[in-house]
Parts: sequence; C-alpha cells; structure tokens
Amino acid sequence: MPEKALLCFGDQQIELPVLVGAEGEKSVDISRLRDATGLTTYDPSLSNTAVCKSAITFIDGDEGILRYRGIPIEQFTDRPNFIEVAWLLIFGRLPKKDELDRFSQRLTLNELLHEGMKHQFQHIPADAPPMALLSATLSNLVCYHPQFLALGDDESFEEMAARLISKVRTIAAFSYRRSLGLPFNYPNPNLRYCANFLHMMFSIPYQQYSITREIEDALNLIFILHADHEQNCSTSTARVVGSSRANLFASCASAVCALWGPLHGGANVEVVEMLDRIHHGGMSPEDCIKAAKDKANPFKLFGFGHRIYKNYDPRAKILKVACDRVLSQMKVKDPLLDIARKLEELALADPYFVERKLYPNVDFYSGIILRSLGIPTNMFTVCFAIGRLPGWIAQWKEQHDDPTSKILRPRQVYIGNTIQDYVPIEKR
Ligand code: SDX
Repeated sequence: MPEKALLCFGDQQIELPVLVGAEGEKSVDISRLRDATGLTTYDPSLSNTAVCKSAITFIDGDEGILRYRGIPIEQFTDRPNFIEVAWLLIFGRLPKKDELDRFSQRLTLNELLHEGMKHQFQHIPADAPPMALLSATLSNLVCYHPQFLALGDDESFEEMAARLISKVRTIAAFSYRRSLGLPFNYPNPNLRYCANFLHMMFSIPYQQYSITREIEDALNLIFILHADHEQNCSTSTARVVGSSRANLFASCASAVCALWGPLHGGANVEVVEMLDRIHHGGMSPEDCIKAAKDKANPFKLFGFGHRIYKNYDPRAKILKVACDRVLSQMKVKDPLLDIARKLEELALADPYFVERKLYPNVDFYSGIILRSLGIPTNMFTVCFAIGRLPGWIAQWKEQHDDPTSKILRPRQVYIGNTIQDYVPIEKR
C-alpha cells in the first residue's frame, strides 16, 4: 500500500502521496497542494525540494556515495575514459564498442570551429574571463548550426551532443591561446579527446605538445569526476532554461554562467588562490581556519562543505590519492599539496567543521592536479565545465524526453507593498 503524508491546516486535512525512489529515498508529492488547500511550500534554496525524477546520477550525501547510472564513481578510475562516461550519462547505458567508436568519430568530425567563430576571439580583450568567453561562444554555436534550434530525432541529438562535447575543448583552448597572444592550434584528428585538448592548449608551431598516457589518464579522471552531480546549481540552470524549450546550446551556455560562481564551480580557483596566499606567507593555515569560522569575516574555507555531502565527497577522496600519483608521474613537487593536507587536517579536527559536517569537496584537490598538468588557474572552472557538459546534456535530454515535463516556474511569498495608488510626480 503506497505510503501517504497527512497535512493538517486549520480545519483542512489533505493526504499527500509519498514517492519512493530506487534507493528508498522518500518524497512527499505536493503537486496537488495549492489546488487542494491554497497553500504553497517555502524552501528558498530548494534544499528540501525534489524538482524532478531522474535516473542519471545517485548521491547519498550521508554515506559519501556517487553513482553514474548506478555504477559507483570509483569503478571509472582504473582506465578512465571520459567519452565512455559521457555516453553512459547521456544515453543511459555503457556503449558497445561500435557505438563508442561511432561517437568518437563524430567528436573527431566536429572538433573544428567555423572560421567565422575563430575570428570572434580576435576582438575580445586578451584578459577576458575564460568563462565569459565559453558561455558566449557556446551560445553562439547555434548561429553556425541553426539546424539544432529545433531538436530532431535521436540521431540528430547524438550529433548535437557530439558537436557540443567536441567543440567545447576547441573553444576553451582558443580562448586560452588568445589570452597569451599565441597562435591557435587546430585540433589533431589523430588524437584522443583529452590529448587533443592538451595539444590545442600547449603545442607550439612545429612542436607538438608531448602527452604521456599518465597525463591523458589524469585529465580523463578529472573530467569523469566532474561529469554529473544530479541537481546541482548549474545543472538546475540547464533544466530551467531547457524547460522553456530553449535550445541545448543556450541551456548549456546558461549553465556555464551558474558554474562560474565561487560557491560552485569557481571554488577550484578560490582554493588554489587560498593555498597560494598561505604559501606566500599571506596567512597561515591556522589563520585560514580562524577566518573561516569567524561569522564577521566573509572568508570561507573554499573546497570545503557541500549541500548534499555531510561526509567526505567521494570525488575528493579519489582526487587526493590521484594528486600523489600524478605529481610523481609529472615529477612535480607542489608545496600547495602539503598546505592543502595541513588545512584538511586542521579542519577535520576542529569542532566548527565537525559539527557542521564540513568535509573536502571535489574542488579541494582538483586544482592541484590541473596545475601539475600546466593548466593555469583561470582555466580551472573552464575544465570543470568541459567535464560537466555531458551531465548538463544528459539532464537536459532527460527533461526534454519526459512528456510530463512542464516549464519550471516557482511560486513566491510576496512581502512587498499592499495595494496603493500612483502619486503624480508633482505630488511626491
Ligand atoms: C560544487 O551541488 C553540487 O553538487 C555542487 C558540486 C557539483 O559537482 O556540481 O559538488 C560542485 O559546487 C562544490 C562546492 C564548491 N564550493 C565551495 O567549496 C565554497 C565553500 N563552501 C561553502 O560555500 C558551502 O559549503 C556550500 C556553498 C558548498 C554549501 O553551502 P550550503 O549547503 O548552503 O551550506 P551553508 O552555507 O548553509 O553552511 C552551513 C553552515 C553555515 O554555518 P552556520 O550558519 O550553521 O553557523 O556551515 C558553514 C556556514 O557558514 N559553512 C562554512 C563553509 N561551508 C559551510 N564555513 C566555512 N567555510 C566553508 N567552506
């Protein structure tokens, strides 16, 4: 017998159905509430509100569990293949070899930007924020691919997803090269996804950037760990924009803007800048912890805390171990890693963090690996976006394919003026 919730209000009583998720999580279905009682619910940060049913990613924040289509995140780390995970997230199962080969071929065929797009980079200030460029250029893509304004069949969806996932690398690399006044590197169709991105970022004329398997694996791992995270801020943005039937490019461009914020994807930049300040003597780890606890101080311990995880973020666990491996493979000694470890040790022993269940999140160690690959700090959130793009596409598609989905339009509690008359300006 399905469970029910009973809401009593004044002389009204209403039974509300309780949905039970695949992992046993329960949610009170209030979709009839306002019609039946005139009441709405108030949950300003949506912390207690499920806005959709989804089969893509499962997170258990108390246990520190993260699964993509049911597969634990830890199982993707041995032979990390970001494109295989992208396909899994978007199409709902692991691809067969011919499917993965076809998708990889599509990525190769779509790696170039229209030459007209390339020229737009020339007219942007060299110090333009890469996330601004990324969002603007993703949105502009539809100018060169108008056929994707109206979504067609699965075949055209796979083509559109491939174009986005492939071109996002080229856009990111071109914006980086532009910022340094370096010539653009065209994508090399003989390179795999991550190797091609690093080639476009770092090769110089007549000398291709040397990419080892370890470097490729490290970047595949970074992208996989960022690939999806259920209804986070940027993914919810992609869903909200897509719910009005706006095209996928516009939805992903909007998600880039949401990810940019320092409380979300921008945190990986804040973490490294925080660690760097400590390294250069600006503040001690102890000062950092003290400032983070001081309510009068807006400073936060970036890379710590999470809306869902009240345990160690499983991605941070994997990245912390990977730091050692990648830095030794790259023969890099980064003092910031020791500082990060010290900060973690202090925080996890401090009652302020323990009581609030604040643990390292995905952003705490990711920047140290990106630095070891030679990726500059201002490109960290762009790398987060490259990794998260398949998740945005998957979530957008899931909503688009759901015949019951409607435009997302929340309610409010109005606290403004009650009715009053207009006062002509001469009487004000
Ligand atoms: C990502 O949602 C996702 O899944 C996001 C993400 C993804 O993959 O998409 O996982 C990626 O965005 C990770 C988070 C990156 N952001 C940061 O590292 C920024 C620092 N963290 C905080 O800003 C904060 O922890 C958030 C934004 C991540 C979560 O904030 P919540 O859920 O709104 O929690 P809160 O701000 O209400 O904090 C609860 C308490 C407060 O203290 P009290 O009012 O109870 O006294 O914990 C404190 C907060 O002040 N707190 C922190 C803190 N994080 C929370 N205090 C100091 N430093 C911090 N980092």
